[in-house]
Amino acid sequence: MQQALRVPLSDVDVIDSTDVIGHAEAFRHARKPGVSPQPARPEARGLPLAIRDLHKSFGDNEVLRGIDLDIPVGQFVAIVGQSGCGKSTLLRLIAGLDKPTSGSISFGEAAARPEDIRVMFQEPRLLPWARVLANVEVGLGRERKSAGAHERARHALEEVGLAEKRDQWPAVLSGGQKQRVALARALVSGPRLLAFDEPLGALDALTRIAMQRLLERVWADQTFTAILVTHDVAEAVALADRVLVIEDGRIAEDITVGLPRPRQRGSAELAALEGSILGQLLGPGTAG
Ligand SMILES: Nc1ncnc2c1ncn2[C@@H]1O[C@H](COP(=O)(O)OP(=O)(O)O)[C@@H](O)[C@H]1O
Ligand SMILES: [Mg+2]
Repeated sequence: MQQALRVPLSDVDVIDSTDVIGHAEAFRHARKPGVSPQPARPEARGLPLAIRDLHKSFGDNEVLRGIDLDIPVGQFVAIVGQSGCGKSTLLRLIAGLDKPTSGSISFGEAAARPEDIRVMFQEPRLLPWARVLANVEVGLGRERKSAGAHERARHALEEVGLAEKRDQWPAVLSGGQKQRVALARALVSGPRLLAFDEPLGALDALTRIAMQRLLERVWADQTFTAILVTHDVAEAVALADRVLVIEDGRIAEDITVGLPRPRQRGSAELAALEGSILGQLLGPGTAG
């Protein structure tokens, strides 16, 4: 499965990805009690996901050509791949926003309810005429008018550190704050699977790192299953239990990131793993 990709790195010896993954696995087995990751979290309230021989075409354009994938409850999975390879298409199918051409997607024994699955996009998509709290309440869907709606929205805003902004208009918020409101709106219904489509792609580097930490924290607290599409491989290896590389409409690589959390950004292990995945994305001999 895993090719040996030689990647020159400034602060570590030249290594190949099989070494790194072996190393990461060793980390996982040696982890201290109470320290994540736990790729399968049976106690989590996330949804499991099973995808079988999934195909999606738009006219003659066959975008997904046989995706098979099992994601256990509560796992954090990142999906990377070149622009146009079908990442957003796959997320839309998982979220039920589009229909497969063939194949199946299922979520364990019980049928998933609409509020169980939420998607967060790169654009925050806030309603400009509604205040922050009301924007979060939108995420409650049918339950928006229920007695506890305000309280739940307030709680979700607290979770993303924006309680004091609840009476503001979206227009006065920074880009990072708008994305936090979008995250609160996604969290407010208590989803069991959260799909993120490049949610941090438009943010500056520091805001992005702060948001990555926030995503990791809410995922750890709330134990939903997370699927993060990102073009940032460093982000993928920093956050995910597992990184999938999509190529030619299929899953070309399925890499376990066994490093303990919280992960040390800039560490040699993360850099090496990032380098090997970039090598896969860019083709042999082009990374570095
Ligand atoms: N609704 C659509 N109608 C026609 N073609 C589409 C549609 N959505 C996506 N595509 C095509 O499917 C391919 C994959 O798109 P997408 O999933 O958005 O890629 P990614 O998110 O990996 O950049 C592209 O060639 C795109 O043009
Ligand atoms: Mg996309």
